[in-house]
Amino acid sequence: METLLLPFSPRYIVLTICAVVTALLIGIGIFDHNHKVWEVLLIPVVIFGALTLLGIRDLLQKNHAVLRNYPISAHIRFLLEEIRPEMRQYFFESEKDGMPFSRDTRALVYQRAKMQLDKRPFGTQEDVYREGYEWMHHSVAPKALSSAEFRVTIGGPDCPKPYSASVFNISAMSFGALSPNSVRALNSGAKKGGFAHDTGEGGVSPYHRENSGDIIWEIGSGYFGCRNRDGSFNPEEFARVAADDQIKMVELKISQGAKPGHGGVLPAAKVSEEISKIRGVAMGEDCISPATHRAFSTPLQMMAFVAEMRRLSGGKPAGFKMCIGHPWEFLAICKAMLESGIYPDFIVVDGNEGGTGAAPLEFMDHLGMPMREGVNFVHNALIGINARDRIKIGAAGKIATAFDMARAMAIGADWCNSARGFMFALGCIQSLSCHTDRCPTGVTTQDPTRARALVVPLKTERVYMYHHATLHALSELLAAAGLEHPQQLRPIHFSKRTSSTEVMSFAKLYPSLRPGELIEGTQDPRFRDAWAMARADSFQPVG
Ligand SMILES: Cc1cc2nc3c(=O)[nH]c(=O)nc-3n(C[C@H](O)[C@H](O)[C@H](O)COP(=O)(O)O)c2cc1C
Ligand code: SF4
Repeated sequence: METLLLPFSPRYIVLTICAVVTALLIGIGIFDHNHKVWEVLLIPVVIFGALTLLGIRDLLQKNHAVLRNYPISAHIRFLLEEIRPEMRQYFFESEKDGMPFSRDTRALVYQRAKMQLDKRPFGTQEDVYREGYEWMHHSVAPKALSSAEFRVTIGGPDCPKPYSASVFNISAMSFGALSPNSVRALNSGAKKGGFAHDTGEGGVSPYHRENSGDIIWEIGSGYFGCRNRDGSFNPEEFARVAADDQIKMVELKISQGAKPGHGGVLPAAKVSEEISKIRGVAMGEDCISPATHRAFSTPLQMMAFVAEMRRLSGGKPAGFKMCIGHPWEFLAICKAMLESGIYPDFIVVDGNEGGTGAAPLEFMDHLGMPMREGVNFVHNALIGINARDRIKIGAAGKIATAFDMARAMAIGADWCNSARGFMFALGCIQSLSCHTDRCPTGVTTQDPTRARALVVPLKTERVYMYHHATLHALSELLAAAGLEHPQQLRPIHFSKRTSSTEVMSFAKLYPSLRPGELIEGTQDPRFRDAWAMARADSFQPVG
């Protein structure tokens, strides 16, 4: 009896109704001798018939249990799941909601990029009494707005061709992750605004070169654009590419905050003729970025490789980018600097809050040090080995506003990079589908029919304006604090609410080492044990 009633249970009722309606309509059509009634019935028969076939398929398929139990109706659930992010964003997200970037931050970037009014009415929407709230101190004697360009010279004593960089640059994103039009617009925006554009590890593409904006050429473990057939580093090819005047600095990628220690694979099917040429990889084969480098395996070898990059590039600033993992490993690199006398010109510290085209959730959420702790750790380690004055530090990790910049620079950064901030300037709406090749705004897709949506001259202007307006906002913040240049920012300029009744200065939260303290022997608990474990000849800890 139960089985007989099953078609009328709520689970199957939609399929039953479709099947019965289809049968009824066909019956009416058959019994109408003039066949005139088909003119009216045809469309409903097709619709209900198709739904019935869909329901039967749902019943028989084995991939989705929910479809087997709720034929036809479960598709509504899938549809709602599909459009859930958009529904949330359009209807339910408050100004301070939205991850990774709040609606407020995104709106600010859009407004600055479009030269629209970027002011807010009525008062802050921040809860200034919540734990974790941070603020910058102003002065009773504000300065006039600085007319100086905020730039920083990168290149230590061993670098014959230092680069004067803006304090705000486009963070590494490869052609491949980005569409050709995105790369074009970023680079021509950088050209117009006099700032730098990092290639990411996917090589220097023709789209980077079209508009001759300053380039930081990044190479990762795949050595794309300077590799031999077997994937090893090719020094001659590196020297040939790096000789280009447009390339201002060369950067070795050790790790990326969103997926530290994780390699990458571009599947063979996606290795187009164009990508195979740019990256120097074979068509029809998977394009692999291994998790580790082949060109070196110890801190000393790594320093020698950085020195080689500087030499091969004709003396351009050479540095590396990493997200801090085991503290003793970075300190091992510091010991290698001391032992070899080789110092990089810069270090870019990426935080685990950083972005990516695609990464495993566990890596994004729980691996690697956040940017602020990472920057401050590197800053102090370099002070501790007396190398801070010769190595500049860049910071990347959810930096999109002038306040984000000021805060990062107060705790150790000399300049800031933004990836997703500039993506918003290009029109990214944070739909979070970069990994599907179905980017709705043409920013992260290789589908030419989607990429054409991104109009290069318009977005060039927006990239330029976003950079310009953010630095203007930074100069306003600095002036209010009685400062003239971001290099004057210090931890004492910021405070944080650490509980409902307690406030701490950043100077307490981010205490500084004394110059040379690591060499002399530190008792600072953040460094003491890790320094003892670090060794220049291996990334493995002592003991
Ligand atoms: C789409 C995309 C592609 C990226 N590709 C690279 C890359 O090739 N090399 C790299 O070092 N970092 C890469 N990153 C990381 C960024 O350069 C940056 O370090 C990180 O996203 C933090 O900056 P953000 O918070 O402003 O996005 C990528 C990020 C994004 C969003
Ligand atoms: S709009 Fe494009 S670039 Fe932005 S999050 Fe969505 S898919 Fe990624």
